[in-house]
Amino acid sequence: MRTERIAGEQPEDEQLAPSLRPPSLSEFIGQEETKEKLRIYLAAAVGRQEPLDHVLLQGPPGLGKTTLAQIIASELDVDIRVSSGPAIEKAGDLAAILTNLRPHDVFFIDEIHRLRRNVEEILYPAMEDYKIDIILGEGPNAQSLRIDLPPFTLIGATTRAGLISAPMRDRFEVSFRMNFYTRVELRTIIIRAGRILGIEVSEDGAAELAKRARGTPRIANRLLRRTRDYAEVRGDGHIDREIARKSLDLLRIDEAGLDELDRAVLDALVSKFDGGPVGLETLAASLSEERDTITDVVEPYLLQEGFIQRTPQGRIATDRAYAHLGQSRTSQTLFD
Ligand SMILES: Nc1ncnc2c1ncn2[C@@H]1O[C@H](COP(=O)(O)OP(=O)(O)O)[C@@H](O)[C@H]1O
Ligand SMILES: [Mg+2]
Repeated sequence: MRTERIAGEQPEDEQLAPSLRPPSLSEFIGQEETKEKLRIYLAAAVGRQEPLDHVLLQGPPGLGKTTLAQIIASELDVDIRVSSGPAIEKAGDLAAILTNLRPHDVFFIDEIHRLRRNVEEILYPAMEDYKIDIILGEGPNAQSLRIDLPPFTLIGATTRAGLISAPMRDRFEVSFRMNFYTRVELRTIIIRAGRILGIEVSEDGAAELAKRARGTPRIANRLLRRTRDYAEVRGDGHIDREIARKSLDLLRIDEAGLDELDRAVLDALVSKFDGGPVGLETLAASLSEERDTITDVVEPYLLQEGFIQRTPQGRIATDRAYAHLGQSRTSQTLFD
């Protein structure tokens, strides 16, 4: 398999340690239901000598969407071309990519919810009929040219399924929602990463990192690397529970795995807005944070762990949030 990255930024951790990406479905830990379905769809497509149906991968950052796209291409033994929604500026950019695909290749569009409308419209007939219509020239002399494309598989990834247009969503035959990983899965991921990077990490050290990795492999790998630094400088290089705890405390990641931003959001909800409900805009503004960071990165985990709830009126802090911050619900208990 050849990976050709057309555009789009690459997170720092991926440049430094590409080898941490599991290369095959059998080495991809967790997401059991997704893997089971994928195995079937992959085998069926290969058996029929057809391209795999278009796949949409959704979920918070760092859960393995890009990794899974690369695995799919590798399992199909085809090339993958990688781009992203904001990177494809003109319809012509997209046409150039599509016409250069080889039969059954995978075309991966990260952040597909950020595709421009004019580009999206070229993509519809490409996905449905493997055809694109290009307009040549302008004004009265403009001519429409229909180009046949090789049959291909589009894999779209998004952190915000709700922002994908309905016609776009309808053209994906297969859609997977990536879930946060369990502690046991994260511990396995950390032990595997430790083996690849040559880091000595004990079972209980890995368990401690896993507990505080926010259900996210990318964070687990980052905590492992930061803790290796800590272990080499303050210890003998070996990561056990004690070293992991000290390193995580230094990183200000708490017992529940919440980082400073998570806690700032909870604290604002509780202290400034009396537990809510508060609208997203107001909450983001009060923290001087990007709205998208709150919705894509912070909220999914706080929701899943039961620290906040979403109501039609806005976000509210739960009892768990109050307990975690060591606060009591003053106004409500006094006046209810
Ligand atoms: N299931 C998994 N098993 C092992 N490592 C994983 C898994 N999923 C993700 N990772 C690791 O986490 C990192 C982030 O995954 P990535 O695919 O880039 O996430 P996303 O595209 O969803 O943001 C990868 O570099 C990989 O090392
Ligand atoms: Mg990605």
